[in-house]
Amino acid sequence: MMISVILIYVVLFLLSVQFLNLQWKSRGFPPGPIPFPIIGSIWWIKFRADHGSLKKLAETYGNICTLWMGHRPVMVLYGFQAVKNGLANNSEDVSGRLQTYVFNKMAQGKGILMSNGLIWKQQRNFGFGTLRKLGMGNKGMERGIQTEAHYLVEFFKEKNGEAVDPSFPIVHAVSNVICAVVFGHRFSLEDKNFRQLMEAYNWIVAFGNSHFYYICEVFQWAAEHLPGSLQKTLLSRDFVRSFVRQEIKSHREKGRTGEPEDFIDFYLDQIEKTKNVPNSTFDEDNMVQAVFDLFLGGSETTATTLRWALLYMLVYPDIQEKVQKELDTVLSPSHVICYEDRKKLPYTYAVIHEILRFSSIILITIPREAVKDTTILGYHIPKGTLIMANIDSTLFDPAYWETPHQFNPGHFLDKDGNFVTREAFLAFSAGHRICPGETMAKMEFFIIFCSLLQKFKFTVPEGVKKINTDFIFGSTMKPHPYKLCAIPRWVTQC
Ligand code: HEM
Repeated sequence: MMISVILIYVVLFLLSVQFLNLQWKSRGFPPGPIPFPIIGSIWWIKFRADHGSLKKLAETYGNICTLWMGHRPVMVLYGFQAVKNGLANNSEDVSGRLQTYVFNKMAQGKGILMSNGLIWKQQRNFGFGTLRKLGMGNKGMERGIQTEAHYLVEFFKEKNGEAVDPSFPIVHAVSNVICAVVFGHRFSLEDKNFRQLMEAYNWIVAFGNSHFYYICEVFQWAAEHLPGSLQKTLLSRDFVRSFVRQEIKSHREKGRTGEPEDFIDFYLDQIEKTKNVPNSTFDEDNMVQAVFDLFLGGSETTATTLRWALLYMLVYPDIQEKVQKELDTVLSPSHVICYEDRKKLPYTYAVIHEILRFSSIILITIPREAVKDTTILGYHIPKGTLIMANIDSTLFDPAYWETPHQFNPGHFLDKDGNFVTREAFLAFSAGHRICPGETMAKMEFFIIFCSLLQKFKFTVPEGVKKINTDFIFGSTMKPHPYKLCAIPRWVTQC
């Protein structure tokens, strides 16, 4: 009994010391809720960084404020000015990626998405450069996208106007675009290995969206020893890795006679070229992880945006009609859409940007970390501080958008109907970690969206009274499952 009382006093004493220590440490940081030992101040947003809680946080403490995750400070940036300045000024200083227990399990600090330092710099520069070469040099990427757009058109044609959920065919198309870029070939839906690959990625993304993910980050011992989601996620990771290794093996066996044709070809060349360069990080493990990251970064995001795109076309049939009118006026019905066409289709291109803005699929950037002591918006920030930039708040910032909460392609058009870019359009983030797949994503989105709208009128299935445009909260904001009818444009009824 006596021992328990002493223990309680000791714990209370230690917690009080920790509490005072935290208050001391938070001096000099931007304002924020009071931090407590162990839980920090994340309790204030109910342990969930969603639209509502981040808005309330900014309204209470300002556009730059501090949350504490346990004893670790997190700088939260809200609104265009804070996000842009926070990420783009002293950009290199805030280009670190948070290394957590789960991130380490998934990537071991390799590849592009979760790496830091020299590995990140070399892998990112190389990955970015290779995507550019594959996209702009031999037009391979564009051809790959056109092929997938064609299969998607065939899919809807076969449905003959019947109500269908477009999610799976879209995910299949987008994943195949990456396969073409990375492996140099596509997979049919019947391919068992490819289906397993998609299932493995689905599982990894679902795990990242689950509460169990956070539990694993906090209670690492339990995550390590108890059977459950983490173990299945690691098995999925292993499956993806062995899939990629198998592709690398067949590229090696096949050998090459001409120019490199896909990401693996370029990477194998790079390993060869740099094998005697000190500090080179080009090896098979980094190649596998870089491929893993291109899939992870590029498939779910683009597929989700395309799902929103078709949903908005159901909600705004007048906008759908205007896009089709522009397509019909500028292009012949048999024209195969290419990215260059965007220059002749300003309204359509504006609609695509408005879809990217309005669906705002990424709420916050993947957490960043200050790699050295620095200054953000006048505050001194010590090395190791986390940075959480709320991308969504830039896309709806009332100071930069005329009608932020309305779907309005006019946001991207000048008074003469020409397409214009907008500085607050930070859907792909800003600074040194800006999304390297932006051009590829836009190319994919443009070609697939236009190919579908050129051929079909999308309508709501009979009997559906209300279209749900709420999002499902997760690492990307997804629409609820829905069905649509794709009516070949020379037929009028579903
Ligand atoms: C609509 C589509 C897409 C959106 C909205 C999007 C958005 C983003 C955002 C917001 C980030 C985080 C940047 C940061 O930490 O500040 C990111 C990172 C990244 N994205 Fe994308 N992305 C898209 C498509 C793609 C595609 C098609 C690829 C490649 C095939 C890709 C590859 C990556 C990679 C590798 C990173 C990590 C970059 C790094 O850590 O240095 N993304 N993306």
